[in-house]
Amino acid sequence: MGAGHTRFGALPDGPRTLLRTAVDGAFSSVEKGAERSAVGEAFLATLGFGGWQIGNAAALLAEEAGSAGAATTRVENACASGGFALRAGVRAVERGDAELVLVAGLEKMTDVTSARRRYWLGVSGDTEWERLAGLTFAGVYGLIASEYVHRHPDGREALAEVASKNHENGSRNPNAHFQKRVSRDEVLRAPRVADPLGLYDCCPVSDGAAALLIAPADQARRYTDTPIFVEGLGAASDRLAVQERPELTRFDASRRAGDRAFQDAGLDRSRVNFLEVHDCFTIAELLALEDLGFAEPGGAVDLTLSGATRLTGRLPVNPDGGLKSKGHPIGATGVSQVYEIFLQLRAAAGARQIPGAEVALAHNVGGAGATAAVSIFSRG
Ligand code: COA
Repeated sequence: MGAGHTRFGALPDGPRTLLRTAVDGAFSSVEKGAERSAVGEAFLATLGFGGWQIGNAAALLAEEAGSAGAATTRVENACASGGFALRAGVRAVERGDAELVLVAGLEKMTDVTSARRRYWLGVSGDTEWERLAGLTFAGVYGLIASEYVHRHPDGREALAEVASKNHENGSRNPNAHFQKRVSRDEVLRAPRVADPLGLYDCCPVSDGAAALLIAPADQARRYTDTPIFVEGLGAASDRLAVQERPELTRFDASRRAGDRAFQDAGLDRSRVNFLEVHDCFTIAELLALEDLGFAEPGGAVDLTLSGATRLTGRLPVNPDGGLKSKGHPIGATGVSQVYEIFLQLRAAAGARQIPGAEVALAHNVGGAGATAAVSIFSRG
């Protein structure tokens, strides 16, 4: 029924202000209005980065929304928290738990020291064999990218194209952390972070929040003449540590979550007009295209280099700039992806509008593929 979003970036605002801004945006986007007191269930996706409110954070959501009294639940599945919170919210609506459900995502990441930041980024990976051995998230994705590029030599160029494309899209998004264009050449020449990944292959560390309001489909017209429908949901998990998996360049959690979402929706992949995928590092966008069944293994290279995933291509990917350019405030990301889908399907995405978009998919990954949530939407 409604969706709201803060600016993403290094922001002066604290967590309460971010939440309030996103929720106010969601309520004000409901054309025929919605009562804050009607929210019966509220779900907050957050890692609690830096430990700002590691316990009981969800109570703040209802408080800042002006819906105190609603049942509140915090959802934490690392970077996939938002996608799983959406799923919990939709299920609550389906069960008839509430006539209006609020789902929000929030992270405040930039006000901690860099050592503390590294710790909080690391806690969502495997502790024993990855974090304590010194492997960072960029390090894990660097290993995956290294193997991928070894198998598919044009892969490094495709990674650069992902970064350049997403920066181009982000330059059209006033909420994006980075709103500057970067050429493929600049991506390739940037300082290394975790070989072969350089600075522009990585998402930034960002603050931000996003919020959604969900109601039963048969009540939709009470709130708006342009509802966006949830067609299908899928979620799955995998072994936490990458070393325990049979294959480095494939996320089975994404595959299962995608298959389940398409089965739930009863839709064919050819119906999807654009994708919001979890590109925390450029390699993750290529894996997502393959894991979600839009390309064969290795096929994401040609698909990407052909320009098909650009805004003007046949399957635009990450029109809002993705995590790469829009930013990645961990708990907010999965909710923010749906905010973009809400705008696009309502033809309200301005300079980055995909003409005639009717069906879209959101794909949200936790850690290096240990959890994944996929959702499919239509404009009805
Ligand atoms: N993409 C593009 N530019 C970036 C950037 C990114 N990801 N991160 C920082 N920059 C820019 C900054 O804007 C700054 O530019 P300026 O000099 O023009 O102001 C410059 O690079 C240096 O910024 P700084 O904040 O000092 O960078 P850093 O070296 O501390 O951090 C990374 C760079 C890539 C290490 C950091 O962004 C990072 O850790 N990203 C990954 C986050 C992550 O793992 N999230 C979880 C994913 S699962």
